[in-house]
Amino acid sequence: MTQPSLTILGIESSCDETAAAVVRGAAPGPGSILSNIVASQDDAHAIYGGVVPEIAARAHVERADGLVAKALAEAELTLSEIDAVAVTAGPGLIGGVLVGLMTAKALALAAGKPLIAVNHLEGHALTARLTHGVAYPFLLLLVSGGHCQLLVVDGPGQYVRLGGTIDDAAGEAFDKTAKLLGLGFPGGPAVERTARGGNPRRFAFPRPLLDRPGFDVSFAGLKTAVRYTVQRETAPDASFAADIAASFQQAVADILTARSKAAMRWFAANRPDAHAPVFVVAGGVAANAMLRGALTATADGEGFAMVAPPLPLCTDNAAMIAWAGLEAFGLGRQAGLEVSAKARWPLA
Ligand code: KG4
Ligand code: ZN
Repeated sequence: MTQPSLTILGIESSCDETAAAVVRGAAPGPGSILSNIVASQDDAHAIYGGVVPEIAARAHVERADGLVAKALAEAELTLSEIDAVAVTAGPGLIGGVLVGLMTAKALALAAGKPLIAVNHLEGHALTARLTHGVAYPFLLLLVSGGHCQLLVVDGPGQYVRLGGTIDDAAGEAFDKTAKLLGLGFPGGPAVERTARGGNPRRFAFPRPLLDRPGFDVSFAGLKTAVRYTVQRETAPDASFAADIAASFQQAVADILTARSKAAMRWFAANRPDAHAPVFVVAGGVAANAMLRGALTATADGEGFAMVAPPLPLCTDNAAMIAWAGLEAFGLGRQAGLEVSAKARWPLA
């Protein structure tokens, strides 16, 4: 069923990016991104080697109003021309989530607009609808800084969790590896750059759990193996860091492709309602070119179309929040002003 077109203002502040965007469209998508502004706080956190929640929350306070004004101006719209305000209500760093949520509540109240509370993970999950209009149900690998899950997506708020990490998220492993190699913050892109030209077979890092059935993954042992290897090496040669980064990245890709392949086989056997099966990769780690390539090859081999959002829509942004809000609002879902921020909010 096609829905009427909606214009939604989205606000995101759950981690270290303050973001505002305006998106227009209707389910199933694709939609139009009228503006999409992301203010990264990387510089504020870099000297600490990771996100400091208090610094993040304060930076969100300083930027939120200005970013919303800029997103509306770029979309050439006023608040009165927006159908609803969508905002990340969790999961994430609670101080940051609160800043975005209070900003959105104030805007919604002042302009008399509906408020939509969006799950940040749902923002990542439904980005492939915004960009490609992917039909439900689809298979999703969600790999971000805080999460790593394989899910069947049946609709907004409708998820079946097949498996996921039993310890660290994939992005966390990238960030820790970057820190060990002294590559700075944020870690994922730095590891990817360093791995270029490195030998992915020099270090045999573990691929835990793959000898067991199911869809779970584990990255804690991999992270520890990288730490021991780096700490043991007293006289690293010129290619040491590149080879560590490449061997680490290869291990992550092997783990994720093996589990994704198993999930594709499960999906093909159990979800015949998906006539042309689609495998979606989303979240910050989906920005990794080597991983995208490996997953694309796996999807090709299993007869799945692979969809990964363009890089700026993989990492945190507000267009994805606006879109997830658009789909929820289209189904008549909206929040009251009493809605609270959630540090934890699993999809399934
Ligand atoms: O989705 P996201 O922006 O924020 C969360 O919701 O967590 O994901 C951030 C994570 C970080 O761990 C970052 O290091 C990782 O995504 N990341 C990457 C790349 N770009 C970002 N990991 C590997 N390769 C990349 N190119
Ligand atoms: Zn995210």
